[in-house]
Amino acid sequence: MSTFFQKDKLKHGLPASAYTDVDFFRTECDTLFTNNWVFVGFAHELPETGDTYPITVAGTPVVLIKNNQGQIAAFHNACSHRCLKLVDEPKNVGPMLTCPYHSWTYSLDGDLCATPFFGGKEHHPEGFNMSDHGLKSIKIAIWHDWIFINLSGNAPSFEDYAAPLIKNFDDINFQQVRPVATLDFGEISTNWKFLMENYIEPYHVQFVHRTTTNQPLEDHYTIIDGVCVGSAIDLDDEDKVKESLSVSSRYLTLFPNFIIGRYAPDQIGVYLNVPVNPERTQQKRVIYTTEGQTVSNEEVEAMKKLWWDVHKEDHAICERLQLGRASPVSKDGGLLSPHWENSVRAFQEMIAKAVTD
Ligand SMILES: [Fe+2]
Repeated sequence: MSTFFQKDKLKHGLPASAYTDVDFFRTECDTLFTNNWVFVGFAHELPETGDTYPITVAGTPVVLIKNNQGQIAAFHNACSHRCLKLVDEPKNVGPMLTCPYHSWTYSLDGDLCATPFFGGKEHHPEGFNMSDHGLKSIKIAIWHDWIFINLSGNAPSFEDYAAPLIKNFDDINFQQVRPVATLDFGEISTNWKFLMENYIEPYHVQFVHRTTTNQPLEDHYTIIDGVCVGSAIDLDDEDKVKESLSVSSRYLTLFPNFIIGRYAPDQIGVYLNVPVNPERTQQKRVIYTTEGQTVSNEEVEAMKKLWWDVHKEDHAICERLQLGRASPVSKDGGLLSPHWENSVRAFQEMIAKAVTD
């Protein structure tokens, strides 16, 4: 993998192949999406006992299940019998999860409970231990509404891993944080890293978001703190315009794929980016209020319209970044601003380290 990277680290970004190559994508799945805490979903989307939610992480089918204690657990989404994908759409399965193929049945804690006629007339052949064949569980961490999993099971505790991000939210009363709207963008024709990098740097904001924001570039600064990189802007109160993005903001990420924005005085936005293949990524954004305030339908619609427009402006750019990767000019990775894109460089260095280690 080291051949993917330029020696001249001062100038070049990741080479084009890091955004287009199927083998590189597979390596990302096997390394950084397997070994780290990966953001996979929103706890509020599983409100009831028996709710299940299938996801794909690093190409691996996973199912989230809410159990009788109100906890969400993650399992490999495959029946222990013939390895059929157990859950293929979000749904409530009631008290038990049953495979549609031969009715093998699991509790909401993943324990195998029934294997009808597996031994012929007997349900349990001799020497077959039900307790050995439950669903295979996956390490999970839930930070407020945000669900992370670690496929390898070897990551440090989530609190230790995410400490550089979490400390930015010391002053938030999470009891008051409420999801008020979801924007589902479906699939975007770009590599997942372009969506991350575009979010991480503030350089493009004044050019791409001319109509949606009024944040002067010079008031921004970048943030590089271990696995948390991004940027921020602090504005004086009199400069703030609530209906646009002209407010004090912190744009933060947690490597590899968690994105969270804080918008003063009372809003958080979180986006989920799910890599589908080297050139396609699914994206969803959930908008939260942070002060427990009531928001009218009109206010919610205004927030959705604003954020829809902002994301569409970014998607258009990210899709053209992808198209530019077909040019021989992009082979060496283009250039990064040493000032405004040093946070992008930090993200790319984490990518490079993860796939070469
Ligand atoms: Fe943007």
